[in-house]
Amino acid sequence: MDKIGVIGCGYVGLVTGVCLAELGNQVLCSEVDGEKVEKLSLGVSPIYEPDLQPLLAKNLSLRKVEFTTDFNRVIREASILFVAVGTPTTTIGTTDLSQVNGAVDRILSMATGEKIVVMKSTVPVGTGSKLSRLFSRKRSANISYLSNPEFLREGQAVRDFMTPDRIVIGGDVPELIERIASFFEPLKAPCIRTTSTNAELIKYASNAFLATKISFINEIANLCEEVGADVSVVAEGMGLDPRINNHFMRAGIGYGGSCFPKDVKALKQLAGHNGYHFELLSAVIEVNEMQKMRPIQKLRRHLGRLYGRRIGVLGLTFKPNTDDVRDSVGVDLAKLLLFEGAHVTAFDPLGLEQARKVLTGVDLIEDPYLVAEGAEALVIATEDPLYAGLDWERIRGLMAKPLVVDGRNTLDPADLPDGFILEQVGRRVKRIISECGEVGVAQVGLGTTRRVS
Ligand code: UGA
Repeated sequence: MDKIGVIGCGYVGLVTGVCLAELGNQVLCSEVDGEKVEKLSLGVSPIYEPDLQPLLAKNLSLRKVEFTTDFNRVIREASILFVAVGTPTTTIGTTDLSQVNGAVDRILSMATGEKIVVMKSTVPVGTGSKLSRLFSRKRSANISYLSNPEFLREGQAVRDFMTPDRIVIGGDVPELIERIASFFEPLKAPCIRTTSTNAELIKYASNAFLATKISFINEIANLCEEVGADVSVVAEGMGLDPRINNHFMRAGIGYGGSCFPKDVKALKQLAGHNGYHFELLSAVIEVNEMQKMRPIQKLRRHLGRLYGRRIGVLGLTFKPNTDDVRDSVGVDLAKLLLFEGAHVTAFDPLGLEQARKVLTGVDLIEDPYLVAEGAEALVIATEDPLYAGLDWERIRGLMAKPLVVDGRNTLDPADLPDGFILEQVGRRVKRIISECGEVGVAQVGLGTTRRVS
């Protein structure tokens, strides 16, 4: 049986390694961070990802998966090497391939015999062709290259791995593609067998398309606020057309995370470097940046200058069910509020530890009620159902002013007690009056001011 090596134990690498072990393979994972390897070897996941912990513990005890800092050992022992290292963005917006290049150099210098390198990391289109050429020049080993982009979402990564919509494998040699496809056979998903260039572009184009959908519905939401429509109803009505569908149609205060912002920019750059100006993506990026500013504009509309105001932020991860704060809208928002001179307090159910590493000057508090205490406004930045379940009667009593800017439409106005002013996305601002339900006030879009009903 081929031993599988996984290089990099981040979200993608760790989920890939553990899930491949669960599918019956022998997996050896390498990771440069010794502390992470220590934890993993004790069966403790260093990241929060639903369902991962029990799967890790189970496969570790069955000795189906193993973790090491010894990269050379992985190259020696495994015949198939899944590369799942980070490909962040550089300060000038290009893709930082230093971790990929580091892994490739090591494979080139250490590998003997036959090896198949399978790229899971999101790499610029054309990387596969270049690396295939590079590996083919090595005489002392027979190294082949395949592209196998990953489509899993954080927060449901194990489920996405085990029940994928599709598997994409790109390469030049059909037999090798089949060999890798056989690992995914038990998942019974459609498999696209293609070139590495196509596989790489499928990954970027998919993420860019989803980001485009989000920016589109966000602009529709902004228009809804102006004309008095409700974006949820509009999205539902649109989504019933299967050509549109209702996925990724949740309006909010912008997309975040380690993938969409970076991949949309990378695709735009890639187009530019190949002589094509990808106009649409410029708008997708710009709309997303402006969307992040809308809570600030809404707060200003109610409170005037934010200098010295106490504002609470609920939600610092880039979405619920993860502890990942990379490129998170909640973190950006907290920074923008600090920049405005506000006194910012913030809560997140899973992300406080990570947030501490990237936020200074914000009071990070483990209790949402303490965030509400004395606050002149609360801003909800992630769509965590937890917020709808809070005791809003109690919160109203704690807040200095009962203003909530719900950036993800997580709250049902009918569940809020009397007196709250609720700013939502793609709906007009509401003042809650309990005896008669919710009543619209101040019919204002952010661009214009209209008659009060
Ligand atoms: C995304 C893709 O969905 C995965 O298919 C892909 O594999 C992954 O990137 C990657 O390239 O590794 P992920 O970043 O985990 O997955 O998160 P998503 O669930 O896609 O959400 C991204 C952002 O979009 C979040 O900030 C979320 O709040 C926002 N979003 C999502 C919306 O604002 N509206 C929506 O309707 C959906």
